[in-house]
Amino acid sequence: MEKSFNRTHMCGVLRLTDSGKEVVLKGWVQKNRSLGGLIFCDLRDKTGITQVVFNSDVPEELFNEADKLRSEFVIGIKGVVKERYAKNKEIATGDIEVFATELIVYSAAETPPIYIKDDDDASENLRLKYRYLDLRKQKMQKNLAFRHELTKATREFFDGEGFCDVETPILNKPTPEGARDYIIPSRVNLGHFYALPQSPQLFKQLLMVSGMDKYYQIARCFRDEDLRADRQPEFTQIDLEMSFVEVDDIIAVQERFLKYLFKKVLNVDIATPFPRYTYDDAMERFGSDKPDTRFGFELKSLNEVVRNSEFPIFAQALETDGDVRGINFEGCADGFSRKDIDKFQDYIKAYGAKGLAWIKIGETEISSSINKFFNQDQLAEIAEVFYGKPGDLILIVADKRNIVFDALGHLRREVAGKLRLLDDQCYNLLWVVDFPLYEYSEDDGRYYAMHHPFTSPRIQDIELLDTDPSKVKAQAYDIVLNGTELGGGSIRIHDRKLQKKMFDVLGLSDEEANSKFGFLLDAFKYGTPPHGGLAYGLDRIAMLLSGENSIREVIAFPKNQNAICMMTGAPGYISEDQLEELAIKSTVLKTDEV
Ligand code: AMO
Repeated sequence: MEKSFNRTHMCGVLRLTDSGKEVVLKGWVQKNRSLGGLIFCDLRDKTGITQVVFNSDVPEELFNEADKLRSEFVIGIKGVVKERYAKNKEIATGDIEVFATELIVYSAAETPPIYIKDDDDASENLRLKYRYLDLRKQKMQKNLAFRHELTKATREFFDGEGFCDVETPILNKPTPEGARDYIIPSRVNLGHFYALPQSPQLFKQLLMVSGMDKYYQIARCFRDEDLRADRQPEFTQIDLEMSFVEVDDIIAVQERFLKYLFKKVLNVDIATPFPRYTYDDAMERFGSDKPDTRFGFELKSLNEVVRNSEFPIFAQALETDGDVRGINFEGCADGFSRKDIDKFQDYIKAYGAKGLAWIKIGETEISSSINKFFNQDQLAEIAEVFYGKPGDLILIVADKRNIVFDALGHLRREVAGKLRLLDDQCYNLLWVVDFPLYEYSEDDGRYYAMHHPFTSPRIQDIELLDTDPSKVKAQAYDIVLNGTELGGGSIRIHDRKLQKKMFDVLGLSDEEANSKFGFLLDAFKYGTPPHGGLAYGLDRIAMLLSGENSIREVIAFPKNQNAICMMTGAPGYISEDQLEELAIKSTVLKTDEV
């Protein structure tokens, strides 16, 4: 019986032009309503919903069976398409309904713990626990299909440009991206551990030594780091590397790629070349190395105008080599109350800032939280720096430079959000270039590689490696979309001597360098082409292009904010026997709670 009951159409495709056809549909019951002599059953699959009608013309047995259908039962129906009297403009099949003549119930369903509808307000943990139900929602089906389109277009593009897709190992030695590794014990080599790859970085460089010339991979990466809306412990990169290239060559390929991708998946034409900002410029103007340029609100330094002020907070910041900076939120003086400004002050505390000074420019007077220390003329002088005019609100932070940048960089986006300036139909792609090669950690008293230790300095800065490493700029670049870092990369060091110098500045001894990266340094002995590359976060691209706020919405089975899979319960304990077999002793008491 089931054999002849072959599906003829999906649930979202029937239109008025199909009227009169006999069809077989299969799917899940979205809703079943019994109205006396009529039963209306909304049948759903990944393409949409069709209204199926059982009326009193059908045999009583069939009618009674239809009456017992409940949400999420899986059924098949045969029936005839007819025009609907009361059309439903909300759904694509709303002009028709199918009058059922046969019914098969494939499986019954208990009442699901979450509603299968897009505006269901279940908590995220509940959604993740029942992810297989959550994924039945039209929005989630759409997101996964969208991600598939992205991946497909990516493969088409890189294949068309002569890149070769090569898989690299998952069981690795630690990679140098700077986050914590996920560690896997080796049973056959007791006391030894693999690290899961934070990226395929070293392998793709080795592929260049191998003569592969252009490599790409849609690669799973693993990083044990604090999670956020755009970070998962396991995520996917579009990873690539090219030989015999300079920064401009790599950027040109990426601009072609992004243009292709946007056209293919969104039918949006993006203009190339993208603007390029130096790291210093991005920080000075936007307080961020991933500036959102959909709106203005640029930072301005007040160091000169307030240098002689007696306001202790400003004076202290400047004495300790800090900074006083502000933003003119033009036209916002009336829009934000003192209470709102207090909330902004609380908001920037998360970024280490201790306070937020404000100046409101009125028609005849300037009011300010710092008017005890600044008279009208002095406030006017500050306002002048911002070309301030009546109606403007200036917010100021004084602190260590990095705190000022971080606080104001986030504040400008927070305010822009409140003013609804974050238009997600607007795609501001830009490059940030000339990153510092190193960042200095006061706490550890040493330099760290800002990107990773294989990033090449700019040729003109190589001499500074001996004299002032903090001034060396890298041949590194990040691609940014609307304030989110989509990807980053660099030209690599391909010269052993330069690589050794890099390690010296990082305080890595020859032995350490050899034990960590000896295989790469060895490979460099045997003829290494100049090379460079980049990696995109595929999840982030999928999130931004589908208009979502979290990458968890575009990953089929993500972990929650505590790196737990709510559905399977991973990570879990392993048995004493397994631990013993791996020669591992756990010092943590076994409980069911993670
Ligand atoms: P990087 O560390 O900048 O560079 O990573 C590249 C891109 O990967 C994405 N990404 C993440 N996405 C989700 N969750 C995470 N935890 C996460 N971490 C990173 C970001 C980021 O821009 N090997 C170098 C690339 C290179 O030099 O070629 C690398 O991995 O979108």
